[in-house]
Amino acid sequence: MKILAIESSCDETAAAVVENGRTVLSSVVATQIDEHKLYGGVVPEIASRRHCENITGVTDEALKNAGLTLDDIDAVAVTNAPGLIGALFVGVNFAKGIAAAKNIPLIAVHHIKGHIAANYITHADLEPPYMCLVVSGGHTHIVKVNSYTELETVGRTTDDAAGEAFDKAARAMGFDYPGGIHIDNASKTGDKTKYKLPRPATKGEYDFSFSGLKTAVINLVHNAKQKGEEVDINSLAASFSYTVADMLTDKFIAAAKEYGYNKIALAGGVAANSVLRSVLSQRAEKEGMKLYIPTISLCGDNAAMIGCQGYYEYLEGNIADMSLNAYATKKLHML
Ligand code: KG4
Ligand code: ZN
Repeated sequence: MKILAIESSCDETAAAVVENGRTVLSSVVATQIDEHKLYGGVVPEIASRRHCENITGVTDEALKNAGLTLDDIDAVAVTNAPGLIGALFVGVNFAKGIAAAKNIPLIAVHHIKGHIAANYITHADLEPPYMCLVVSGGHTHIVKVNSYTELETVGRTTDDAAGEAFDKAARAMGFDYPGGIHIDNASKTGDKTKYKLPRPATKGEYDFSFSGLKTAVINLVHNAKQKGEEVDINSLAASFSYTVADMLTDKFIAAAKEYGYNKIALAGGVAANSVLRSVLSQRAEKEGMKLYIPTISLCGDNAAMIGCQGYYEYLEGNIADMSLNAYATKKLHML
């Protein structure tokens, strides 16, 4: 079964063709980052406009790269939540148009479920149940993946998402948006013990809080500036990366133990972070847990992961109709 998948929830317009869930025939991502960079973050109205301009070309390219036409496509899957509402609507309406014109099933995909599904493309042997840590620009969740389509959140951030904390700390350090990758690169030559950063506590056992940590970085940089002192940015980046990676890893491993999982996975844009990948891998090995991490190219937003999750939604009979709506927020366990 060949699914054409569309993703437009934030600042990437993406289309992919995925066969039987796990075989990616093509995947095209048009990023808008260079334009949003000018404003230090994603400007929703600009994102919607660029999606409108790019979506047809990106979809044509995905079909062409797969050596197919729309007549070869069996279903169309689209991210309909969560994300920027105007951006989501572009993808949803485009997908509806294709489904109606070609009389093929329309499948709605939750963006976070898509991120988790990136692991199925990377790892042929991965099947639910397992526990997943989803870390992106908008989300930080510990999720029980009970089946391909039934997921349950057991912990989440109470303020900033991990990626948001990376981007805001990066801005204070003088890096362009999105700064996660720049902190990652800078941390490679830094001394992680040079700066001591706080690890904010939370009420919920498996919840996270990054706002205090982000503020600590901003204050450290501002105070140094006022005193005319130099900040060793590489060491601050290393310290920040290890603090975030340790906070995420400690709670995630504790949750996996509590709920009895020895199969765990990582997903989302921040899953590309080299420090997090290494700290979590080491802990998982020590605990005798099998860890699955998506290949770097599938960590950030893409449509291949949406096509993969779309396939499993289809098998479950989760087919949408022309009343399909887009939602800026949506709980993971809701269809
Ligand atoms: O999943 P994603 O592409 O979009 C959302 O659904 O939010 O995640 C984007 C986030 C951004 O905050 C970006 O800075 C972060 O992922 N990110 C990273 C790295 N690569 C991307 N954060 C830390 N280290 C990286 N290497
Ligand atoms: Zn995402």
